[in-house]
Amino acid sequence: MGGQNGILPLLFISLCLFITFTTAAKRYTVLRIEVSSKDQLDYLNEQYLNSSQFDFWKEPSSVGEQVHIMVKDSLLHNFVEQLDSRGIKHKVMIDDVQKVIQKRANDSAKFYENKLYRDAPENRIAFNLAKYHSFAETINYLNALAITYPDRVHVMPIGITHEGRQIPLIKIGTRSRADKPGIWIDGGIHAREWISPAVVLYFISQLVTEYDRDPTMRNLVDSMDWYIVPLLNPDGYEYSRSSSDVEVRLWRKNRSPTMCTQVSTGLFSPPTTQCCQGVDLNRNFDWFFGQVGSSTDPCSEIYNGRFAFSEPETRSVRDFVTGQNGKIKTFLTFHSYSQILMYPFGHQLRTYPNDVNDLSATANKAAQALQSMYGTKYTVGTGADTLYPASGGSEDWAKGQMNIKYSFLFELRPEDNVWDGFLLAENQIIPTSRETWEAVKIIADQTLQTF
Ligand code: ARG
Ligand code: ZN
Repeated sequence: MGGQNGILPLLFISLCLFITFTTAAKRYTVLRIEVSSKDQLDYLNEQYLNSSQFDFWKEPSSVGEQVHIMVKDSLLHNFVEQLDSRGIKHKVMIDDVQKVIQKRANDSAKFYENKLYRDAPENRIAFNLAKYHSFAETINYLNALAITYPDRVHVMPIGITHEGRQIPLIKIGTRSRADKPGIWIDGGIHAREWISPAVVLYFISQLVTEYDRDPTMRNLVDSMDWYIVPLLNPDGYEYSRSSSDVEVRLWRKNRSPTMCTQVSTGLFSPPTTQCCQGVDLNRNFDWFFGQVGSSTDPCSEIYNGRFAFSEPETRSVRDFVTGQNGKIKTFLTFHSYSQILMYPFGHQLRTYPNDVNDLSATANKAAQALQSMYGTKYTVGTGADTLYPASGGSEDWAKGQMNIKYSFLFELRPEDNVWDGFLLAENQIIPTSRETWEAVKIIADQTLQTF
């Protein structure tokens, strides 16, 4: 009896605390930090980078660069005090992330089908390329293309995710010659980077539906085989679409089953167990797996998984690419954000393949073509030199392990000084797609000249 009397008020108090904390935790702010010395850089890296409480939208790379960090309201005050006491300059980039997510959802619902950006009216398939689409809509579009254009399109699954979704690959190419070079494109490896699958769908639509009108497209489809996975992480993507909650919309990893770790909470308290879901797929490839810029903590945004290729999504890429027996000469993978075009290697500073001059020349040409459309500026370099070292990434694996000559990673719009980061508005999809397509065509041309 006595025990029960003690437990009820306790339960009540914890319920109140729970409610206060969960409602308070709803508010998130993104800070833009200007790093002006090596000390400041080290401080941010050491204190916050590995904390699951701070979500780095843009990680600390080097002095003079910006860092974007999303912080819970409950930690904001203290964090700002720490920054101030060290003289680290900061500004509010997004005051209330939840509000922006809500606004994006409302705008999207209000947006009527825009005829201009539909597939051309003479095409039989209506698909609005100016919107972010669900996994189901994406699959339906790919299947419609395969049925409508059987001479140039085939759709096949390359694997099955943890939640049972098929990962679709669309192959675009006519049967013109046997020894055509292959080009791989994937989008949506990170769930919250919605612009990535949208841009890749635009490429698909250009190749398939402009084939009859545009001699450039005809040449690209006749002389090459395109292997395109517009949505490599459908579980994570669908999860990020499933609610406007900040933690949900900004999900990055896949949805692998929960893993637990022991965390020490202090010298005198026993370790506690923490359990989290999801692997960072772009840390799960077999290239310097588990080294710099990845984490063994399942609760980290850059958790690399139990071993290289532990995840069905990364295994599908490996198995498909390996199965092409060297046919794939170019590997392009699309992320957001920061406007960077990267070539290998990203796992370590100042580390380059032997033919780095070919890669950097092609990347610079591609970035110029991209810029020529709307003036959008890209930085060109390795991931490690331009952003931060990260091991186990697919662009490195494609080059280092698979020996694919032209391997590039795009970090799409927006740039650092635009405030909305991962929450890029839908009216940016078409311009982003158009300019990026200019860069991809340069890389495809270069592939044709080399092979
Ligand atoms: N934002 C991407 C990621 O975190 C970029 C990785 C680029 N590669 C690199 N080695 N830095 O996966
Ligand atoms: Zn990414």
